[in-house]
Amino acid sequence: MAVITCPKCAKKHKVDIQTIQESAPSGKNVVARCKSCNNRFPVSLEQLSSKDQKEKEASQGTARKICISLSKGGVGKTTTSVNLSAGLALAGHRVLLVDTDTQGQSSYVLGKKPRFGLTELLTKELGPEEAVVQARKNLWLLSGGKSLAGVKRIIDRKSFGAEWTLSEAMKPLDDKYDFIIIDTSPGWDQLIVNVLFYATEVLVPVALEVMPLHGLAEFIKSLDSIQRYRQEISLKYILPTFMDNRIKGPQSIFSQLKKLYPKYVCKPIRYNSSLSEAPSYGKTIFEFAPGSNASVDYRELVRRVTNNDSALL
Ligand SMILES: Nc1ncnc2c1ncn2[C@@H]1O[C@H](COP(=O)(O)OP(=O)(O)O)[C@@H](O)[C@H]1O
Ligand SMILES: [Mg+2]
Repeated sequence: MAVITCPKCAKKHKVDIQTIQESAPSGKNVVARCKSCNNRFPVSLEQLSSKDQKEKEASQGTARKICISLSKGGVGKTTTSVNLSAGLALAGHRVLLVDTDTQGQSSYVLGKKPRFGLTELLTKELGPEEAVVQARKNLWLLSGGKSLAGVKRIIDRKSFGAEWTLSEAMKPLDDKYDFIIIDTSPGWDQLIVNVLFYATEVLVPVALEVMPLHGLAEFIKSLDSIQRYRQEISLKYILPTFMDNRIKGPQSIFSQLKKLYPKYVCKPIRYNSSLSEAPSYGKTIFEFAPGSNASVDYRELVRRVTNNDSALL
């Protein structure tokens, strides 16, 4: 993939170099047409492919590791992990979704039933490549589930370096993806600590339905205590979920959030029943209800996370 910019209107377009190369005679340049302003302009294939190569090299070994966390349950962690991962994959990034929850919901939401996953990776029964399953184009899954409870006990019994168990096991996978998204369970346990010693960015979903500010403040305090031992981790996004514009409560919580954490607060995900229906069909929101508000909102989140307003998905 490469991005070309229209010299007339400055609109950026994502293009697949391979497809262009296949359709253009070798050595010849191609003429591109801007979908926005209709301007036609020449594009040098040579320049494009060397830029693409450089981008590929630069991105190797630099997977962004984003964990989706908040000690409270039912706030949209799994929904966000799955749909953010799917959206990033649709935008052309290679994504690994890691489910560290004993409920194994992420696999269910994606319509997958892998017989193995993170447990086998952590117990070294399987190598990293074997433990991962492909769920969609550009999207891979390291599934969680009940068996993780046993792994937690193994981690607990370690007398030294227990907090690095996940990081060590994941190391061979780090350079294979652009994004590693980690769904976490509610509560605070050894596995969450492991996730916070592995991830580099934290996205906190905050349900606007119930007074959530106390839980958020508590979580940020716990994160601060981890940061004392591991500086690489930082809070990056606070994502308001269950936004309902018809009633005042959520709107006023949203305003408070924006006042308290202006740097982190993202555009909210609206309340949308498609989000709770999609999982029983094993579909992401982009597959189940591509035209819904929820799909629009998760697209917006993908743009914020990739810092790319014209991300195509
Ligand atoms: N914006 C939303 N609108 C409507 N329902 C939602 C929304 N986000 C999540 N849900 C539903 O709410 C429930 C809890 O969400 P979930 O993502 O499982 O939370 P968590 O992982 O934090 O426990 C699920 O049934 C999910 O489908
Ligand atoms: Mg969950």
